[in-house]
Amino acid sequence: MNVDDISRVTVLGAGNMGHGITEVAAIAGYHVTMRDIEQELVDDGYESIEWSLQKLSEKGLVEEDPDAVMDRIDTEVDLETAVSDADLVIEAAPEQMELKKEIFGDLDEFTPEGAILASNTSSLSITEIATATERPEQVVGMHFFNPPVKMDLVEVIYGAETSDETAEATYEFVESIGKTPIYVRKDVNGFVVNSVLGPFGDEAGWMVSEGAATIEEVDAAMVHRRGYPMGPFELGDLTGIDIGYHVRKEAGKDVPPVVQEKVDAGDLGQKTGKGYYDYEDGEGTTYE
Ligand code: 3HC
Repeated sequence: MNVDDISRVTVLGAGNMGHGITEVAAIAGYHVTMRDIEQELVDDGYESIEWSLQKLSEKGLVEEDPDAVMDRIDTEVDLETAVSDADLVIEAAPEQMELKKEIFGDLDEFTPEGAILASNTSSLSITEIATATERPEQVVGMHFFNPPVKMDLVEVIYGAETSDETAEATYEFVESIGKTPIYVRKDVNGFVVNSVLGPFGDEAGWMVSEGAATIEEVDAAMVHRRGYPMGPFELGDLTGIDIGYHVRKEAGKDVPPVVQEKVDAGDLGQKTGKGYYDYEDGEGTTYE
């Protein structure tokens, strides 16, 4: 598969990452099918894209009429229908290896012969995901960052059997949607960015759990003194506290109590209205 052969893209998942990736690809001119397991999830994702496109359009960041971009997006619940004519599938399902393998097994059965099968996993092994298929050379990591419409970087990750042809077409696809790809040439846990971001979040979590500083103090320090766009807790609320939690669990790491408490309470960040900060009443971050 060459990048010029890619015209139909299917994104599996309509959550934060799935709908964001769908939007980015549609803005770039691709026809995209966004699929999730329930109509309600698909509808929520679709509405989030409408909201986002409106915002981008008001700021002059998207030239085309938002309706014209939306016209390139189809939604679907049935997996086979969603992928049966896809040139590229980007899976953005929850971070559970067994689930990903089940999906890739189905993709092996339902997608056209030459299709590229990409996973947006944050940290799971591409090599292991690919074992669910008979075509591991066509399986690749394509890791976007949250929020995809704003974040420039995309990691293109080689599994042990990913072919150069697949990785190169994926890299060029990323360029074609206006993003900046980097190759991650070894399927290491966390790839490049999460390997570095993990200890950042971990240190912050342990520090607060041990009472050395408050959530607000850590976030303020990193934003005001270090110049980061967001502190580690604010970032956790944006990406979803459960995402970092599962990454830690998969890596066999201990979870700081402050993180465990939020996961146990179901307070997972902006998407649930509450995380380290409270978004339900519109207050949001409280550090200054
Ligand atoms: N679409 C359109 N507009 C959006 C939007 C979206 N999806 N999300 C936010 N906005 C809008 C807001 O509503 C706000 O609009 P307003 O100006 O009308 O109020 C505006 O964008 C926010 O703009 P700001 O000027 O406050 O913020 P910036 O645009 O400068 O930056 C940011 C926002 C890009 C999120 C920046 O804070 C940032 O870079 N944060 C760090 C994000 C990061 O590190 N992400 C990676 C996380 S790790 C990850 O994803 C890996 C995964 O595996 C877990």
